[in-house]
Amino acid sequence: MAKTRLSYQDTGVDGPALLLVHGFPLSSEMWRPQLDALGGRRRIVAPDLPGFAGSEPAPDPLGVTMDYYADALAELLVDLGIDSVALGGLSMGGYVALAFWRRHPAAVDALILADSRAEADGPEAIAKRSAQQKQIRTGGIEDLIPQLLDGLLGATTKDQRPEVKEIVRGLMAHPAEGYIGALEAMKNRPDSTGDLPGITVPTLLVVGDQDNLTPVELTRYMHQHIAGSQMVVIPEAGHLSNLEAPEAFTAAVSGFLGELERA
Ligand code: MLT
Repeated sequence: MAKTRLSYQDTGVDGPALLLVHGFPLSSEMWRPQLDALGGRRRIVAPDLPGFAGSEPAPDPLGVTMDYYADALAELLVDLGIDSVALGGLSMGGYVALAFWRRHPAAVDALILADSRAEADGPEAIAKRSAQQKQIRTGGIEDLIPQLLDGLLGATTKDQRPEVKEIVRGLMAHPAEGYIGALEAMKNRPDSTGDLPGITVPTLLVVGDQDNLTPVELTRYMHQHIAGSQMVVIPEAGHLSNLEAPEAFTAAVSGFLGELERA
């Protein structure tokens, strides 16, 4: 496939880089709290996946896979002259991170998997995503946004942080091809559970305690199967733990990266 032009944010600071991959259906801007809190002292590259925000969509949305996303990110790193990164992904970003680790292991110094899972989609999830693709083809993304938004946020955010809901809603406007491609990639992603014992880079696992989409048990499973991994449960946060509880999330990431640097 021809190279896909990606939009991205890059804090450009010298030193080891952190590559942060957004979840569905968001953009690099979901990492705003971490870009602001950590970006002044470390290089953070936050790309928009193909078809999201300013990134070019894939030529055929139904051909999009996690491997395609991973390779697009690997090409971006080459363009930026970055040999290796600490690689973090939230939810779908975690699926992309696992694909990237499989395909470009030498470029991964450490992994951060947030509110994600190693399992593939089951038949029910696949059917739901196919129905969402159909809904987008016939009516666009407008009606889907409220449904998706409801699942992304935890109970405390819904009750007490209305501004976060509006921020997230504002991150969900993307071309239909972007949505359809990501849903296709998620539907067809492989089961990664068998890969977990082979992960030997330092790994941080983070999950919100109110995450209903990828509940805490799924992160605990990864923790049990990735030797030496660290697991942090973020209180009063749902699926978007980095946005719902930004200080706790940033502290977990910063502590983990600090340990790597001291090691
Ligand atoms: C995400 O946040 O990236 C999605 O909810 C992941 C998924 O639907 O599996």
